[in-house]
Amino acid sequence: MTSTFYLETFGCQMNVVDSERIVALLSDMGLTQVDTPEEARVILLNTCSVRDKAERRVYGHLGRYKPLKQQRKDLIIGVGGCVAQQEGENLLEKLPFLDLVFGTHNVHKLPEMVRAAMNDRSRSLETEFLDNEARLQLFPTRTDTGSITRFVTVMQGCDNFCTYCVVPHVRGREVSRPSAEILEEIQALVAQGVREVTLLGQNVNSYGLKGESELSFVELLEQINDIEGLERIRFTTSHPRDLSDELIETFGRLGKLCHQLHLPFQSGSDRILELMNRGYSRQQYLDKVARLKSVCPDIRLTTDLIVGFPGETLEDFEQTLSLVEQVRYADAFTFLYSARPGTAAAHMSDDLDPAERQRRFERLVKRQEQVSAEIWQSDVGGTFDVLVEGESKQGQGQLFGRTASNRIVNFEGEISLLGRCVPVKILRCGKNSMVGEQVAAG
Ligand code: SAH
Ligand code: SF4
Ligand code: F3S
Repeated sequence: MTSTFYLETFGCQMNVVDSERIVALLSDMGLTQVDTPEEARVILLNTCSVRDKAERRVYGHLGRYKPLKQQRKDLIIGVGGCVAQQEGENLLEKLPFLDLVFGTHNVHKLPEMVRAAMNDRSRSLETEFLDNEARLQLFPTRTDTGSITRFVTVMQGCDNFCTYCVVPHVRGREVSRPSAEILEEIQALVAQGVREVTLLGQNVNSYGLKGESELSFVELLEQINDIEGLERIRFTTSHPRDLSDELIETFGRLGKLCHQLHLPFQSGSDRILELMNRGYSRQQYLDKVARLKSVCPDIRLTTDLIVGFPGETLEDFEQTLSLVEQVRYADAFTFLYSARPGTAAAHMSDDLDPAERQRRFERLVKRQEQVSAEIWQSDVGGTFDVLVEGESKQGQGQLFGRTASNRIVNFEGEISLLGRCVPVKILRCGKNSMVGEQVAAG
């Protein structure tokens, strides 16, 4: 009898990449992936704990699987990812129906753990952090076919310890992957039809600084830019402190680097930035933005920001609002501050009225929505190169792809255009995507 597994993934790209690895490992064991928990012998959750809401969702989902376990005694339920790393043994204690808990450095142990649970119903826990050498051996490589765009992990972990953030605690220290391996992987991906890569890490700008790698991030970008057959390069996430002038200049000279950058600023107030341990001031951030815009006038910026950090006054908040207005981000991911266990900010006194926090949040979201709409609306009538990624959900004969600025465009076209960059004139602009028509190459 073939056994089956159901996998649910929460959180960021780090987890998406780890989940691909989980699928590969379990498939190698002979297990088949299924679409519903009801059909599965093994149910796995790859979890996120960046905010309280994300963590509560995990418990919500687990609660739904508990009755399944009561009906089917041979069902195996496992939790991995950042909540598993953070909670470890507590999870097994709190949830008796859970069989296995594996941390962010322990994905490779999963086959062994699943086998043990299948054989003698033994429960297991693996949440040990590995040293850098062992982690480098286990870096996820991605050479499977089928897509036009791919994420390529260049570093993992984070050493920044922003005071609100759980990531350094659940992902461990920064480690960079050797550049030769990254270049090889991208070459293999391109040979299989990939046209765009996004270099991935919690803080890609510090690539190589602390690791074994022999290239700097800028040198790595230069070499990737030389790979024949590759059309586009993006990278995420950047820490403003580590965004060097040299890196900023690459936007003006590397032909394949998309004119788009996600540059989280978190708060517009110097006082709050310091409490957050971000390592830059409002003015330093704005100077970097000005330099980016001067070397690359059409660059589209996006950002993350936090509303209601402990001690945030109305004046601090107004500074965040004014920074959003000044920079004019194409998109901003706005988060309400959430105290995370084990972080420094969780011990800071926080007496902000929840209703006031919510009011600030809504003010910011509303203002940003106006700015985003204005920016994307300004593309209507213009013609942009769209890299065709597949058939659109909009219906037959419709394709979708993205502009260099990272906006989804739907337009009519032949599927033979898959993987090609085609000029598309933008006709209409919706909240999250645009509609266009293919025009002759100019
Ligand atoms: N490594 C990336 C992303 C980290 S998590 C970076 O440094 O930018 C993604 C975003 O979640 C962060 O940028 C931050 O805005 C938000 N975030 C992290 N911890 C948070 C918390 N405790 N409360 C609210 N938002 C948080
Ligand atoms: Fe978290 Fe800061 Fe590291 Fe980003 S840079 S992952 S916000 S600690
Ligand atoms: Fe969440 Fe872990 Fe990513 S906490 S944001 S899944 S690194």
